[in-house]
Amino acid sequence: MNTLTVDLGDRSYPIYIGSGLLGRREVLQRHISGHQVLVVTNPTVAPLYLDRLRPALEGKQVAEVILPDGEQYKNLTTLEQIFDTLLQQRFDRGCTLIALGGGVIGDTAGFAAACYQRGVHYIQIPTTLLAQVDSSVGGKTAVNHPRGKNMIGAFHQPRCVLADTDTLATLPQRELSAGLAEVVKYGLIRDADFFDWLEIHSAALLARDAQQLAHAIARSCRNKAEIVVADEREGGVRALLNLGHTFGHAIETGLGYGEWLHGEAIAAGMVLAAQLSVRLGWLESEQVDRLRRLFHSLHLPVIPPADLSPEQFLNLMAVDKKVMAGRLRLILLKGIGRAVIVDDIDPAAIVATLNQARSAE
Ligand code: NAD
Ligand code: GLY
Repeated sequence: MNTLTVDLGDRSYPIYIGSGLLGRREVLQRHISGHQVLVVTNPTVAPLYLDRLRPALEGKQVAEVILPDGEQYKNLTTLEQIFDTLLQQRFDRGCTLIALGGGVIGDTAGFAAACYQRGVHYIQIPTTLLAQVDSSVGGKTAVNHPRGKNMIGAFHQPRCVLADTDTLATLPQRELSAGLAEVVKYGLIRDADFFDWLEIHSAALLARDAQQLAHAIARSCRNKAEIVVADEREGGVRALLNLGHTFGHAIETGLGYGEWLHGEAIAAGMVLAAQLSVRLGWLESEQVDRLRRLFHSLHLPVIPPADLSPEQFLNLMAVDKKVMAGRLRLILLKGIGRAVIVDDIDPAAIVATLNQARSAE
């Protein structure tokens, strides 16, 4: 087991990464303070992993809530199911929620924990690659609104993250690729050596080589933990983690939640951010070619969907959380491993980039 720490003073917590962690009672129970535990999961993950988790919760009063599966259910209506169960079972302020699933379950259960009785403890047990390398770490929790992704949420750090790498064995190949998009993101924003390593090991990662996957997860989590420690509430450097996300969220919202996977949308979004960086004279076009080749090899999209017009894109991007006082703020690249925050980008440059990307279809 590899253990990393997110060092946030009295809200610090460990990230455990390894094989066979789900049933490890002594690891999990260390982080459950009260007697009552609610496991939040979905009908895909429950039959695969609930039985492995249950022995680790022995001795606790355990309830389970099974939410519908999918990004389209990451909303306020679904959230109510969690509160209904907590209240029906008379859970008090000392209870702990456990998110067992991908990023949708983690974000929803985390937000429920942030709200219930003004905040209770929760634990992240991420079972997708995307959740193991990104969403389970850092305390961002949220649900979607029909008009915008993750628009209703809170910062609320978990008590621990338990990433059992065995769970990735059942992950559909498309979901594995989507998770690799967030892995590539760390290489692009701050870890050029990791980007080089990913170029060499892309086939091994797609083939689920256990050792290389564990390395990629640990390195991603280390990168994320360092950023979160430096800027927990996204006053500055944490925004770099949103590379490709303003374009990506526009794709997810514009096409309807669940149509493109989050990782797919941000892969195309990262290519657009790189292309815009070239247009502004900051990045060499050879670096975009490298990025496109890497995403190709990971079976990720590099072109935005044809059925979203540049105007639709711009309208959707205007709802992004990074819009401040009406000015669009984007994360762009000055090199591989060097991302920057840029304010007040000329919409005409964005439209030109979108048109150029679409003409490459
Ligand atoms: P997801 O949660 O929808 O999971 C993908 C699919 O895989 C689902 O059908 C799920 O039921 C299934 N699944 C989960 N684990 C499985 C397993 N082990 N075997 C088989 N199937 C399994 O999607 P995701 O990619 O994990 O997460 C995407 C979400 O994460 C988005 O809503 C995104 O906004 C959010 N996100 C949040 C943060 C953050 O910092 N909070 C960061 C990145 C992404
Ligand atoms: N996924 C973006 C963040 O955690 O800040």
